[in-house]
Formats: sequence, structure tokens, C-alpha cells
Amino acid sequence: MKGAFEILLFSASTFAQTLPTLPKPETQSVSFNSSFKFNDEQIKLGQLWPDLAENLETVLNYDRSQLANGGPSQDDFYRIDHVAPNAPGQVLKVKHATDPGAWNIPATTALSRFIYTSTTANGTLIPVSAYVLWPWTAKQFGKKSNGKAPVVLWSHGTSGFYADGSPSAHRSLFYGNIMPFTLAQAGYVVIAADYAGLGVQTSWDGSHVRAQYQNRVSQAFDSLNALRAAREIFPDKITKDYVNVGHSQGGAAAWGVSEVLAENSHNKFDDLERDYLGSIIFAPGIDSLIAAPEVFASWIGKDLHLMYPDFNLSDWLSPLGIDRTELLTQIQGGQYVSELLFLANATEVLNPAWNESWYASAYTQFSNPGNRRYKAPMILFQGTEDQGGRPYKNALSTFDSTCKDHYSGAFEFVSLPGVAHFPSMDSTRQQWLQWIEDRFNNKPVGSRACSKSTINSFLPVDNYQKFTTSFPQWAGAANQFFELVAGGF
Ligand SMILES: *[C@@H]1O[C@H](CO)[C@@H](O)[C@H](O)[C@H]1NC(C)=O
Ligand SMILES: *[C@@H]1O[C@H](CO)[C@@H](O)[C@H](O)[C@H]1NC(C)=O
Ligand SMILES: *[C@@H]1O[C@H](CO)[C@@H](O)[C@H](O)[C@H]1NC(C)=O
Ligand SMILES: *[C@@H]1O[C@H](CO)[C@@H](O)[C@H](O)[C@H]1NC(C)=O
Ligand SMILES: *[C@@H]1O[C@H](CO)[C@@H](O)[C@H](O)[C@H]1NC(C)=O
Repeated sequence: MKGAFEILLFSASTFAQTLPTLPKPETQSVSFNSSFKFNDEQIKLGQLWPDLAENLETVLNYDRSQLANGGPSQDDFYRIDHVAPNAPGQVLKVKHATDPGAWNIPATTALSRFIYTSTTANGTLIPVSAYVLWPWTAKQFGKKSNGKAPVVLWSHGTSGFYADGSPSAHRSLFYGNIMPFTLAQAGYVVIAADYAGLGVQTSWDGSHVRAQYQNRVSQAFDSLNALRAAREIFPDKITKDYVNVGHSQGGAAAWGVSEVLAENSHNKFDDLERDYLGSIIFAPGIDSLIAAPEVFASWIGKDLHLMYPDFNLSDWLSPLGIDRTELLTQIQGGQYVSELLFLANATEVLNPAWNESWYASAYTQFSNPGNRRYKAPMILFQGTEDQGGRPYKNALSTFDSTCKDHYSGAFEFVSLPGVAHFPSMDSTRQQWLQWIEDRFNNKPVGSRACSKSTINSFLPVDNYQKFTTSFPQWAGAANQFFELVAGGF
């Protein structure tokens, strides 16, 4: 008896010794590093009225609260030394293990970041940042995997137009569960360029790095060069084979990757072309400038002189539009901030003759994917309820004309009735994870032709959550993540 009692006492006291000391819970907050208020000059520059200023501050402060370590303007990682790179795809800086405490990545995933060289659409060498999200165990596809993690090259949609818009600095990598977290937890390693101008803002020679917004060629270069640099950094950790995936602006970029590889002029990407397994395109951006010039003219126009030195922002915007673009640049505003800013005076921000200058039509050859050769196989998922149906029509007609005049191998168009812009990925997770798996298993695609299919919802469409309401939220320090018991079991 005595012995049994002792054992009980012993284990109880052992337990007592291991009980965690719980931190005192503190109110969760979205105000980390974000108490921005416009100064008088900025109010005057933007011709802001009190309500508008307050709304802008609300969104801007929220956006800033989502930046790990204060984001690219404050995080030293995004600064580079004076170096003299001479080719695209060179590695400039590597953070093998980023301390993930300020990020919201899932437990048992790991984050690396690196800076490398890419080129603008016109070939100028520039620095770009990228992230790598690692799985806990790497999915294996037979002997050929050889312990390495299978690569998904990911091109993100519009996350911003300035350094602070970089997904690598966003606590949830901007797309959270929708894409990178899901891929890493399924055993893939995600390699994702921020795109030039997002993340690194100052080049090795001190010049400002500009964003070529919605330029499928420059974004394709950024993705491909990120892959090339990642191979150099992690040669024994990642497979050479890769599947190429993108959504929205990044859907056009990923389509652009397949087009750049198909064209591969001057054998620029020979090293990457042979290991390409296929592309998955979600809701690609097509003809966005024409659909909503009130916002896109500023996003694209602010850096368009990089391509067309004679372009002047006044070709597209009114004096008010130019001043608001200047204000947006000062505060590095993201998508919603700029929509508030421009749509508040939607009829007054454009130069009415914006679409009469040749720049708008010239730019579509850089922004619009399709209607040229591509590297097969490809699959395109598009919701019918994406922004009222216009993107669906655009994607379908671009698919049809590409297949008719530039057929280059297997290409499938998948219609998603009742599905909106971001949910094109949520609604089809089973299908695209399977598609990726099949490519790594070297399974032939169902059809060598251009084909169409439809995926319908299980329950009536109206029963479902229609929109993505937010990315996962970062709770804060240990005493603020009490939902999951800080330091817990
Ligand atoms: C806030 O920004 C500072 C840099 O100014 C950084 O050290 C800190 O980690 C940031 N706080 C959070 C909660 O991200
Ligand atoms: C960039 O390329 C475009 C298309 O080839 C060309 O029209 C433009 O002049 C080039 N711009 C510069 C600055 O080289
Ligand atoms: C752009 O246009 C504005 C207004 O017409 C003019 O004041 C400015 O000098 C122009 N800038 C350049 C670089 O041509
Ligand atoms: C912008 O819109 C506001 C609200 O409708 C209006 O009062 C103001 O005059 C407009 N500003 C300009 C420069 O047109
Ligand atoms: C420019 O847009 C206006 C309306 O937004 C339209 O009436 C006009 O036809 C367009 N011009 C050109 C050249 O596309």
C-alpha cells in the first residue's frame, strides 16, 4: 500500500512541477507598429476630407499591423550591400531560417527568405526578394525524389505596389491557407517571388527599385529567377522538377512563365525549361486596365516610364489623380487604401483622354497573357461569379483564341459556377492538389487537346460562404494567443 501511495504522490508532484506558468492574458490588438496619422501636407496634397482621411488611416494601420518585424521599411533583411551582380538569378542574400515568431505560418512549417537578381521586362538587372515555405516532411514520389522536397513555384496576386506590399513580409504570406500553407502542409516546398519593387526598395547602386505592376513578362522573370536562385541556395533540399502556379495578377504571371519558357528566346531559361511539369492558372488578370482605369491607371502608370521613357503620368491621370498617386507612394498604400483614395473621386482622377494615347494598348501585350504559344500542360480554373462575370468571359475567350491560333499542347479550362475570385482556389483544392501530384508522378494528362470541364458545388450554391473574409490573423505575443494556450501542451 505504502509503495502505491508513494508512486501516486511522486507522479502528482512531477506533474505539478511541469505545469506551465500561464502569462496574464492581454487584449488582442491590431495596432502593432501602426499608429499612422496623415499630416497637414498630406491632407492637402490628397485633398482629403476628414471622413476619407479616417477611413484611409483605419485600413493603412491594419495593413501595417500585418507586416512582420515592421515590414520592408524597418526589417534589415530587405537591405542589400553594394555588390556587382552580372546575371539574372544570382543570390545576393540568404536568411536560411527566418525566426517565424512574428509570422502566422502554421506550426511545423519553416520560412527562409532570400534576395536575388532578376530583370525588368526590358532586361535591366534589379534585386528582388522571395520566400521559401518548407514542409515538415517532404512528399516523396518514388526513388527519384531522393529525400528532396518537391517544388511549387508560386506567383501571388495583387498584394500592393510598393515595398510594404511584399508577401514575404506579410504575417500570413498574404495568401495563408488558400495556397502556401496548404502546399507546405501537403509536403511541397513553396518558392515565391515578391516581384520587383515589393520587398527590396533600394538597389545595390542606391537607385529606387520600381514595381512593374501587372507586367506578366517582368513577373515571370522574377518567378523564374527566384527558382534559379533557390536551386543554387538549396541544391540538396529541393527537386529540380517543379509545378508552376499563380492566381489573378499572379495567374497572368504564371501563364507568362509558361509563355516565356515556350518562347525561350536566346535559351535564357534552358536550365529551368527541361524540369517544368506544368502550370495551374487561377482567375488570371486580363484587360484589368480597361475594366477599372480609375485604379489601374495609377497602379500601372506610376512606373510606366520604366518601359516607355516618354510616358508622363499626366497622359493618364488628372492633377488630382497625380497628387493622390504621390500621396499613395508616400504612405505605400495597398489595394484597399488606393481604392478608397481613387474611387472617392472616381470621375475626377483620370485624364479623360487616357485611352487615346498609344500607351494603354501597347501595355496590354505585357499585361495580358494568352494568344501566344505556351508550355503545356496547363489547367485554368475560373469562377463564373468573379467580379460580376467579366473575368470569366475574358478568360474563356482568351483560352478559346489561344487554343485556336496557338495550340501548343494539353490545356484545360475548368468552369466553376457560383465561384468568386479568391475561392477559385478554395473550391478546387482537391483537384489541384491531385493535378500537382499527378505531374510529379509523370502521369499523362487526360487529354492532349484543349478541353473544357465544369466543377459544380455539392450543395446548392446559395448555401455556401461566398467570399474569403480574411487571412488568418496573427494574435500577437505569447500573452495574446490564449486561444491556443500560450506555451501550451
Ligand atoms: C514593430 O517594428 C519593430 C521595428 O521597428 C520590430 O522590431 C518589431 O518586431 C515590430 N513588432 C511586431 C509585433 O511585429
Ligand atoms: C522596353 O521594351 C518595349 C517593348 O519591347 C519597348 O517598346 C520599349 O521601348 C523598351 N523600353 C526601354 C526603356 O528600353
Ligand atoms: C509631365 O506633364 C506635366 C504636366 O503636363 C509637366 O508639368 C511635366 O513637366 C511633365 N514631366 C515630364 C518629365 O515631361
Ligand atoms: C472629390 O469628391 C468630393 C466628394 O464628392 C468632392 O467634394 C470634391 O470636390 C471632389 N474633388 C475634386 C478635386 O473634384
Ligand atoms: C475612351 O473611353 C471613353 C469612355 O470611358 C470612350 O467613350 C471612348 O470611346 C474611349 N476611347 C478609345 C479611343 O478607346
